[in-house]
Amino acid sequence: MAKMMLAPSILDSDFSDIKNTFKFLEQIKAEFVHLDIMDGNFVPNLTFGPKVIKSFRPHTSLPFDAHLMIEKPERYISNYLDAGCDYITIHNEASKDCGAVINEIHAAGKKAGLSVKPGTPVSSLFKFMDKLDLILIMTVEPGFGGQKFMQDMLSKISELRALIDKNSYKCLIEIDGGINTATAPLACTAGADILVAGSAIFGAPDRVKAADEIRNSVKGCR
Ligand code: DX5
Ligand code: ZN
Repeated sequence: MAKMMLAPSILDSDFSDIKNTFKFLEQIKAEFVHLDIMDGNFVPNLTFGPKVIKSFRPHTSLPFDAHLMIEKPERYISNYLDAGCDYITIHNEASKDCGAVINEIHAAGKKAGLSVKPGTPVSSLFKFMDKLDLILIMTVEPGFGGQKFMQDMLSKISELRALIDKNSYKCLIEIDGGINTATAPLACTAGADILVAGSAIFGAPDRVKAADEIRNSVKGCR
């Protein structure tokens, strides 16, 4: 049985205290650091870009899982590669040539992902399935942390899980938005491999306890 992996999103963390954030993420044995990159165009919010990620890179060896919520991401892939991202995920809705972006990421020896917003069907990703390392299913409208998990996205997860298992694709399924101890087991049972959690961890009074509780909530789900 595959173990559920945790990718805490630092979106709701204190960016002035990033070194301690990484220490905490190492302490809870996070499998990834989820980096939410927003351009104020593809989504109505702004965060940080490759220069800031590059400044984070020396402070942890945890893999960087970059979620690019930016229009025409093909303009900046080399910057995110240079910044030290390990997984780079772009939105299928944001680029006219996702295939070329996947190839560019792979040519640099890094992992490539595609994401879909809640209104986009997973069938739009099928033609890329044999090349992808990761698919990120949004379970909220991208742009902000702390939103409510959209239960009707669960069927997308099970649909993808069945397709991946049937064809033995190597692609991981990552779920992003509204994950907490109540929703994590639903996502996991539907077939998720990686859970992103932002506010459920960084908004909790005891972050270590909150992360432990999410991990415990999915025990035995798959
Ligand atoms: C939303 C981002 C997420 C999100 C996670 O656009 O992609 O990673 O902020 O935060 P929570 O877990 O609070 O929904
Ligand atoms: Zn994200």
